[in-house]
This record gives sequence, C-alpha cells and structure tokens, in this order.
Amino acid sequence: QSIIAIVPAAGIGSRMGADKPKQYLMLGQQSILAHTLDVLLSHECIVQVIVALHPQDQYFKQLPQAKHPKLMQVIGGGERADSVLAALDHAMSINPCAWALVHDAARPCLRHEDINKLIGSLKQYPQGAILAAPVRDTMKRSDANGLITNTVERALLWHALTPQFFPIVALQHNLSKALAANVSITDEASAMEWAGVMPGLVSGRVDNIKVTHPDDLQLAALFMSQS
Ligand code: CTP
Ligand code: MG
Repeated sequence: QSIIAIVPAAGIGSRMGADKPKQYLMLGQQSILAHTLDVLLSHECIVQVIVALHPQDQYFKQLPQAKHPKLMQVIGGGERADSVLAALDHAMSINPCAWALVHDAARPCLRHEDINKLIGSLKQYPQGAILAAPVRDTMKRSDANGLITNTVERALLWHALTPQFFPIVALQHNLSKALAANVSITDEASAMEWAGVMPGLVSGRVDNIKVTHPDDLQLAALFMSQS
C-alpha cells in the first residue's frame, strides 16, 4: 500500500504565545517541525510528505529538510481541517489510490514503532484507524456551574492522537462534505465518523504529545532525549 504523509503545519501557535509559530521553536538541535519531518521522511513505507504551510510562512524554506525529494508544500487554510483538505486535494492529484497518514507538525516525538503499528492495523481496520491513548484518570461530567453530575465510564474513553490513517479518496470526500456542511471537525476521524464510518483505535505511545503550551516544550525535549 502506497502511503502519503500529510502534515498540517499552518497554525500560528496562539496558546504557545512565542515570537514565532510553535512548529519552528527549537527542540534540542533542530526545530519541532524538522524533527517531525525527519520521522516521516525516514520511514520506508511513506513515499511522499505533503506539508501545509501558512500563506505568510517565512521559516519553512530555512529547514534542512525543505528540499528533500519526498517533500512537497501546499498553502494551508484558516482551520486545521482546511489545511489537511488542501494537502489531500494535492494528494488526490498524485495518487488517489494511496492512503493518507495525517500527522500534526506539533507532535515531534512520534516513533516509527507507532507508525508501523498503525499501518499494520490496515487488515483489521480497512476503513481506517487512528493512534489513541486510553484515558487514565477517573472522568467526571459537570454541570454549567462546575459541579459534578456523574462519573463517566473510563474504559470506553480515549485520547485521539495522530497519525490518523485513512484512504485518501474517502477522507478527501468526507472531509470536504463535512466542511461544506459546517460540521465542527477537529481531527480526520471526526469527518469519517460524520459520514457513518467507525474508525479503528490503535493504542499508541503516551509520549507522542502535542506541543501546545510552553510547559510542553520541556516534556517533549525529555521524551526526545530518551531514544
Ligand atoms: N494547523 C494547521 N492549520 C491551521 C491550524 C492548525 O495546519 N489553520 C496545524 C498546526 O500547525 C499544528 C496542528 O494543526 O501542527 C495542530 O493544531 P494546534 O496544536 O491547535 O496548533 P495551532 O493552531 O498552531 O495552535 P493554537 O491553537 O494554540 O493557535
Ligand atoms: Mg489550533
């Protein structure tokens, strides 16, 4: 199966509050996005990596990976889903029969081990699957005043991670339909769910964090140093 990686990297990192988009902040020797791209570009099953960039991006061209033969750029959109769709449109023109492995630029601690696990789930989940982590804490539902109304069954709750792995044709179709219908789409699976598909859950490593707040930088650096 031919696999095209899609990397939404067009965000501005408002919660990080740094002087540049968080994917360009340094983590050890290189930027967060450079780490993420290295993991994907070095995987032998991934034939192409399409990265979606902000229209005013001034940093990408300085990355050592920018001219890698497997790498292509597209202009992203206003929301993460718009950026993913822009890359999917491009992927359709390369090979509509391929599978998309969509992975956040802001998750630099991804390991080949998890990519392999997700790709390996294709036989079990021909409709597509996502990496996810089982919820560990006891979960509470509250009312509007912040008072606990009940305890939610934890065994059935998961944190949705990336990569998320779907057939390009199906994902492009469902994502564009869902966006046109103004459905709130925060990951690829939600577009598939909206279309009636039940994606598989593949348990992933808990160190595959999304760098979101300033505190996450130290945590990501720690995880990165433990190879
Ligand atoms: N992303 C994107 N296009 C957008 C918004 C986000 O490609 N219009 C990307 C980000 O670059 C990031 C991933 O989607 O790699 C996950 O989004 P998030 O963590 O929310 O990043 P930001 O939107 O940049 O951060 P914030 O929400 O704090 O502004
Ligand atoms: Mg965001």
